Order: sequence, then C-alpha cells, then structure tokens
Amino acid sequence: MENERIFTQTTLKKSGYNRAKIVKYNYRDGKEKGQRPPEFKMSFVIFDKVGKIYKTGDVEVQALRNVSFEIEKGEICVVVGQSGAGKTTLLNILGGMDTLTSGRVLLDGKDISSLSEKQLASYRRFSIGFVFQFYNLIPNLTALENVEIASQLSKNPLDSRQVMEEVGLKDRMDNFPAQLSGGEQQRVAIARALAKNPKLLLCDEPTGALDYETGKAILKLLQDTCRKSGMTIVIITHNSALTAMADRVVRIKNGTIDSVAINENPEPIEDIEW
Ligand SMILES: Nc1ncnc2c1ncn2[C@@H]1O[C@H](COP(=O)(O)OP(=O)(O)OP(=O)(O)O)[C@@H](O)[C@H]1O
Ligand SMILES: [Mg+2]
Repeated sequence: MENERIFTQTTLKKSGYNRAKIVKYNYRDGKEKGQRPPEFKMSFVIFDKVGKIYKTGDVEVQALRNVSFEIEKGEICVVVGQSGAGKTTLLNILGGMDTLTSGRVLLDGKDISSLSEKQLASYRRFSIGFVFQFYNLIPNLTALENVEIASQLSKNPLDSRQVMEEVGLKDRMDNFPAQLSGGEQQRVAIARALAKNPKLLLCDEPTGALDYETGKAILKLLQDTCRKSGMTIVIITHNSALTAMADRVVRIKNGTIDSVAINENPEPIEDIEW
C-alpha cells in the first residue's frame, strides 16, 4: 500500500524538491503549478480523473467523467448538483459501496480504488460512517441497539450511550425507530455513523426527508461534530443555500466537475436561511 502514495519523498526529490528552498512543483500531472511549503502534505481525499460508466444491457450511462477534486482533513465538503448529476455515485465510490471505471480515489494516502472485495469490506467497516437519506435503521432494534450494533463492528468505537447523548437523544435510547420522529431517526442514524469513530463521515441528502427546522438541527449537529472532533464530513445536497456552511464546495453537473470553491469563512448553520 505504501508504494501507492502519489508523492513519496523519492518522487519529491526527483522532481527537484529541496527542503532548503521552496521550488515550483508540478502538482498532479502538471495540472496545477504552485509553491509548496517544505512540509508537503497530500490531501486527505483525492479524486483523480474518476470515471464511472453504468451498463444495463446494451445501454451505457456515463455517471461520472474525469472528476478530480481534493478534500483536506477536518473539512466540511458540500457536494451540490441537480438530480442525476452523479452525486450519489461519487459518494458511493468514496464510501467503497461502488467501484469506479477509470481513474483513482485516495483516502489518507491509500488507493481505495485498487482494493479487493474483502479489503473494501473492511474499508467500509473501519474507515467510513454513512448517513442515508432515509435513515435505514433496523426496525426491531431500539435506538441505542442500532448504534451499538454498528459500533461493535469498529476497532475503535466511541461509547454508544455518550454519542446518543451528544446527538440529543438521552431520553430516547430505548425507543424503537417507529416510535421516533423523522428528525430523531436521522439523529440515531448520525449517532450510528459517529459511534464507529470513522475517518470519514459521508452523508447523502441527510435532511432530504426532514422539515426545515429539523433539517437545520441535523446540519448543526454535523457542523458542530466537524468543528469539535475534527472529523472530515462530506454532505450531498441539492440545496445551494447550504454551500455557505462548507469549507469546500464541489459542484457537479452532468457527471463532471463544474467548480470547486474554498470558503474562507463558512457560516454557522444558524445564520443560513433558505
Ligand atoms: N446502479 C445504476 N445503474 C445504472 N445507472 C445508474 C445507477 N446508479 C445511477 N445511475 C445513473 O447515473 C446517473 C447519476 O446518478 P446519481 O444517483 O449519482 O445522481 P444524483 O446526483 O445522486 O441524483 P439525485 O439528486 O436524484 O439523487 C443518473 O443518470 C442515474 O440514472
Ligand atoms: Mg442521489
């Protein structure tokens, strides 16, 4: 796995990199050229010319084409784009739930696009927390049990009860999903993903099924979690107003990157109206 790092010390030396002076460094196949500081670090998430083609019989759909962007550790990255743009495809590839057709994806220096099925399973299990649009809780387990069952999968889980308290569900732990409101169920789903203590939290339209106020509370929870624990979070939405809460905004259009913007001053979710 080590030799799959894009930038090793050797490559840095070969390309004229020198600790004593900052040199112009051809970054990612010469696409970007810039001054790199001596403590060169690669990004936490790297999408490198990712393509995805779905084949159904004779019909091919190019869901992603030449998608390249990066996310730094501890950032909130919001991915926006119209329905069918390729947002879920992108998130599923990053989460190891789908495979790409071309290009590569790196997380924390590791090329996840070259993993075997078995390696992908442990990647999903240990590195990723996933929050689905429609919660996907197990109906015959209580809220707390839903969280515990996920944390038991993890090597380094957080305390399930404590996470339930943090998401504001101290008094709802013993309720079954059907006894909880939509917002409460989504909180359980977030607690379930957080309790695994993942490297990366991926959320596909986490407020899509919620009313305005409840949706806002969920986004505040995600923003607070990111700021407090330094967790890297990717949130998919089709609501452009939410881009204001992000450190980085990736816009996709017809399967390609429309733009990537860095937000120097992300707004607290409380200050955003839509
Ligand atoms: N399993 C699949 N098989 C075939 N085509 C697929 C599959 N999954 C997605 N697609 C197609 O790929 C394209 C991108 O789909 P994707 O679900 O990523 O879009 P999206 O941006 O998440 O849209 P939405 O906002 O509606 O959720 C669409 O044209 C879709 O029909
Ligand atoms: Mg989608």
